[in-house]
Amino acid sequence: MKAFVIDRFGGPLHAADMPKPQPGRGDLLVQVHAASLNPVDYKIRDGKLKAIVTYRLPLILGNDFAGVVAAVGADVRQFKVGDAVYARADKDRIGSLAEFIVVREDSAAPKPATLSMEQAAAVPLVALTALQAFDRAGLKAGQKVLIHAGSGGVGTVAIQLAKQRGAYVATTTSTANVGWVQALGADRVIDYKTDDFATELRDYDMVFDTLGGETTQASLAVLKPGGWLVSVSGPPDPGFAREWKLGWVKEQVMRLLSMRIRKLARQRGVNYAFLFMHPSGAQLRELGAMIDAGALRPVVDRVFPFEESAEALAYLETGRAKGKVVVQVR
Ligand SMILES: NC(=O)c1ccc[n+]([C@@H]2O[C@H](COP(=O)([O-])OP(=O)(O)OC[C@H]3O[C@@H](n4cnc5c(N)ncnc54)[C@H](OP(=O)(O)O)[C@@H]3O)[C@@H](O)[C@H]2O)c1
Repeated sequence: MKAFVIDRFGGPLHAADMPKPQPGRGDLLVQVHAASLNPVDYKIRDGKLKAIVTYRLPLILGNDFAGVVAAVGADVRQFKVGDAVYARADKDRIGSLAEFIVVREDSAAPKPATLSMEQAAAVPLVALTALQAFDRAGLKAGQKVLIHAGSGGVGTVAIQLAKQRGAYVATTTSTANVGWVQALGADRVIDYKTDDFATELRDYDMVFDTLGGETTQASLAVLKPGGWLVSVSGPPDPGFAREWKLGWVKEQVMRLLSMRIRKLARQRGVNYAFLFMHPSGAQLRELGAMIDAGALRPVVDRVFPFEESAEALAYLETGRAKGKVVVQVR
């Protein structure tokens, strides 16, 4: 089958002929119609996830997809051949930039009926990330949340999901994006080119940090005592290492990496947690119901043809995407 692969970490993404994957007993073989890209794809390409997941080369990239079930394993109960599905690929079996992918049935869900394949492929990773971050902080109606990078893949869906929960939503973006991010439902938009969120905002229950770097630490100032800073880009913490069973050594490394942010959080009486999202068919069903009820819409910036997968990844890597970058595979 045709796929887009890397031959070495740090090497270029290129087209290749790869063996069609075989479904195990609990797996679906899916004919991919569309895949969406995420920053984790270029991070994996660059070998930056080696401490967390082991991948064999050549490696097909791509973590998100929508498509049609082409075959099912003997133990599969929830799906049949011909069903339209969407999923975030299993961590150890990524590779949605390909004509076929294998996924555990528990990681997949029926494709939302109101979305095209391209729109559906844009949903899983970012929406699951936002949902799991809000669950982690216990975000409830009436609470205030700051969502960084409201115009990005994660931000565009996080704003809508937080509003669904009845939260008051502030977000950061640059001048050109302020208007349309407000239209997604944000109550307060901070233009980071002209204003500083850390001095503008106070007494928030949660910050959802997608930026990392200095933003993670600066975000502490926004929280009220007992509030939560959940970061998907800041330093990983020992709790994450334990949850992922990464072993004692990596737990100590992550303890050191996150020492400063955890100490500063403790001093302010707030909580810090690093989150690495996980696939969940059950949560994708929940999200699908919200989508088909008109309560959530994916924001797709650009759709690239399959042959231009490398260009699509380069476009995402500029860091300026407005919503999601999608590849039409079929
Ligand atoms: N740990 C996990 O499980 C997990 C899951 C999902 C994502 N992530 C991480 O989260 C990050 C964001 O992912 P994504 O898919 O949203 O990326 P993305 O779509 O590439 O983000 C691009 C957006 O970021 C905005 N942005 C850049 N710098 C900004 C700043 N200083 N302040 C506010 N907005 C800024 C840009 O808006 P402007 O053009 O206006 O600057 C652009 O719209 C990535 O690092 C990704 O790896 C982690």
